[in-house]
Amino acid sequence: MCGIIGYSGERPAGPILLEGLGRLEYRGYDSAGIALFDEQHRLYCARATGKLEQLTSRIEGVLPPAVAGIGHTRWATHGRPSEANAHPHLDPTGRVAVVHNGIIENFAALRERFTARGASFASETDTEVLAHLVAEALDEGADLAEALRVTLAETEGAYSVVVIATDDPGRLVAARAGNAGGLVIGHGEGEQFVASDLAALLPYSRRVTFLNPGEIADIRREGVTLTDADGAVVERAPQLQPYDPVAAVKGRYRHFMLKEIHEQPDVALDTMRGRYLQDPPRVELDDGSPIAAAQARELQRAVLVGMGTSQYAAMIGRHYIERFARLPAEVDNASEFGYRRPVLDPRTLVVSVAQSGETVDTLLAMEEARREGCPQLTVCNTPGSQATRIADGVIHTRAGPEIAVASTKTMTASVIALHAMALHLGRLRGSLDPEVECAEIEAAMRLPAVLGEALLLEERMAAVARRYAQFEDFLFLGRGLSYPVALEGALKLKEVSYIHAEGYAAGEMKHGPIALIDERLATLAIATRDEVRDKMRSNIEQVKARRGPVIALVSEGDDSLDGIADEVIAVPAFEGALAPVVALVPLQLLAYHIALERGADIDQPRNLAKTVTVE
Ligand code: F6R
Repeated sequence: MCGIIGYSGERPAGPILLEGLGRLEYRGYDSAGIALFDEQHRLYCARATGKLEQLTSRIEGVLPPAVAGIGHTRWATHGRPSEANAHPHLDPTGRVAVVHNGIIENFAALRERFTARGASFASETDTEVLAHLVAEALDEGADLAEALRVTLAETEGAYSVVVIATDDPGRLVAARAGNAGGLVIGHGEGEQFVASDLAALLPYSRRVTFLNPGEIADIRREGVTLTDADGAVVERAPQLQPYDPVAAVKGRYRHFMLKEIHEQPDVALDTMRGRYLQDPPRVELDDGSPIAAAQARELQRAVLVGMGTSQYAAMIGRHYIERFARLPAEVDNASEFGYRRPVLDPRTLVVSVAQSGETVDTLLAMEEARREGCPQLTVCNTPGSQATRIADGVIHTRAGPEIAVASTKTMTASVIALHAMALHLGRLRGSLDPEVECAEIEAAMRLPAVLGEALLLEERMAAVARRYAQFEDFLFLGRGLSYPVALEGALKLKEVSYIHAEGYAAGEMKHGPIALIDERLATLAIATRDEVRDKMRSNIEQVKARRGPVIALVSEGDDSLDGIADEVIAVPAFEGALAPVVALVPLQLLAYHIALERGADIDQPRNLAKTVTVE
């Protein structure tokens, strides 16, 4: 969703804020703005619609020197993208400026309260009431942190906010309300930073503090004081983040998406490191085993939750849990979870999958599970995120920052982490055949190299992309473990190229989608060598009989579809349950190259945001 950055220190704040916004732009990019104090301690505020470069060119040469300020890049929720709706928002006297991410549910009532007294509003946003509320509390004599506390108490919803005020130039107050919209503080020497995610802080500081819901950070250049909703001081030592800032830059790649696709061999290795042990062969969860052996044996079922790509990873995880841990498992779209009164109890293991760890639907599902007393594990890529704090145990995917809006490497990492978790659980439950464990570990050891081989398909996929870039409809088909891969292939294509694409279980094709097939609908069939390959072949024949063009993924050495499918892509052979991640690579490359052919904005597709912190 929206990106937030704040700075207090001795260096010129403007360039730091703009650079931070550049790193956050993937979160939202319909408008951007900054607010800082000029030399007379007056608030200077600039906003522009469109991408960050619009703002940068507008303020070039006129940016006043300042040592504290806030910035924002927006993804519209309340109010269309426009300059008036862009953040920061000010109170009518220009005393207070706020940037905000998330939703204020009771903003209409609050707005009404102010307008009834004759106050005017400059935007259609929910955010602006925050500026009014803070200013009102300041008028009543509160200090800035206290004014924000009063504001939090008056508002409903899950959001994060950073405020500056002319009363105390150089000081920022930041808060997180509820589960949406995380905030992280970066601690420096004589300077402090705050941002909606780590990527914006890494070039400046690796000593960070994630805010918990209800907490307020009082930020001055000398240091940060944390207080809870009641105003009590919270003592929490900053964490040292292991991320390498270099990983957050594009390097030699034209787009982050391509860079992240190419990182997958290394990511696989990092996710497996210290977990897949060979001598003796066993899988350990080095994050500590949050499920005791006795508890693992007591479990009666598992429920996996996630959204988008993470949900598809969870669907693969379901196969693993059933196969290795012999535990009945189901997958839920986290946003639907709360609508069904799901039957949960302390013998239901809930496994959430989340790249950001801040997706509001996933967090709500996790909270529901917590209320029901379920043991919970989360497979997550963002240390310190809210998901990691709700769950009893965390399996960190260690994929590093993912900047492209479309997820690639984190799906691979999530699937590997779920594989490790299921094997581990299987051993604890006594349901895992040691030979199977051994074979899976041996296969996993080959995975980074096989992913490297799969990346060599790039030129081939680029050539296929050139031939298919003008198609407007795609069907992705898979069976078994390849079904979630088909769903993900379709999602990637629609996200980055805006082509209509649907993923289907291949067996379902005859129950409707077959009516669409003609020479204008391209079918991508995943027919890599596994127990369902022959059935996939029948599906391909059915498509061809209706003149539909077919791109088939097969395993290297399989020539059975030569002359039948229009394009036969040989994917490196891989024995083992992690095979779906190998098939993912050519699909990611296909989506990328079709988007490139169509001139799409690959790293920042229209309408999307990296972290979805609204329901
Ligand atoms: C797709 C994509 C989204 C996310 C979804 C969940 O490329 O990135 O579908 O997978 O928004 O996000 P997390 O995993 O952060 O909960």
